Amino acid sequence: MKKNMIAGNWKMNMLRHEARELTQNIISGVAKVKHDLDILLAPPFTSLDVVRGLIEGTKVKLSAQNVFWEDRGAFTGEISPAMLIDAGCEWAIIGHSERRGILGETDSIVRKKIKASLNDGLNVIVCVGETLEEREQGKTIKIVQSQVESALMDLELEDYSKFVIAYEPVWAIGTGKNATPEEAEHVHATIREITGNIFGQDSDLIRIIYGGSVKVDNIKELLAMDNIDGALIGGAGLNAESFVKIVKIAGE
Ligand code: 13P
Repeated sequence: MKKNMIAGNWKMNMLRHEARELTQNIISGVAKVKHDLDILLAPPFTSLDVVRGLIEGTKVKLSAQNVFWEDRGAFTGEISPAMLIDAGCEWAIIGHSERRGILGETDSIVRKKIKASLNDGLNVIVCVGETLEEREQGKTIKIVQSQVESALMDLELEDYSKFVIAYEPVWAIGTGKNATPEEAEHVHATIREITGNIFGQDSDLIRIIYGGSVKVDNIKELLAMDNIDGALIGGAGLNAESFVKIVKIAGE
């Protein structure tokens, strides 16, 4: 059974005491959600241990926002999949557009990170999405297709539930402008077709989640689409009340 996923990507926000308060409020808010959802929090590295301590025994899971592709060695400033697992992470976000755009992360780097993580037993959320310029030039499908195909190149997936694709149109991130459910669904359906062509029908179990200005007001319509299996949430996830409301709507 495919579970919807709601993941809060805190980006570079939250000091440790703020992370503690936000996590406590989220945990108590989602405690009564009965529906079987994957609820993830992705705090900055410095707060992983704070969040880990609080979510123990709850339905909330821990994710990192980034990961490196080697296990250990002279890679100053980097953190390996094994280290993240050791710190309590079950998931890592890979290839977020902010890392692709600001830090120069390429498709081949993204692919190395995916392989290293899955090899070590860390589940992945791989982000793809076009810029505004690419959308305006009618290149959305071409760009997303090449990012997805690159991420999946030479990949053997044993368990499709451990691989999530997040479609995050760059122009919708942090802008308040979300893709309409129909626009998002069009891209999600294309991604579904690509995964189906590569892995066959069982790969329907790969979740394709949407990110980009997801809020309490638009989550319901987005999740009503056939190929939208959850959401990756930035700004609205920094507020416990709105994150909890989104989780509750997703669980209805
Ligand atoms: P916003 O929800 O703030 O637009 O951010 C989306 C995002 O980038 C999640 O990874």
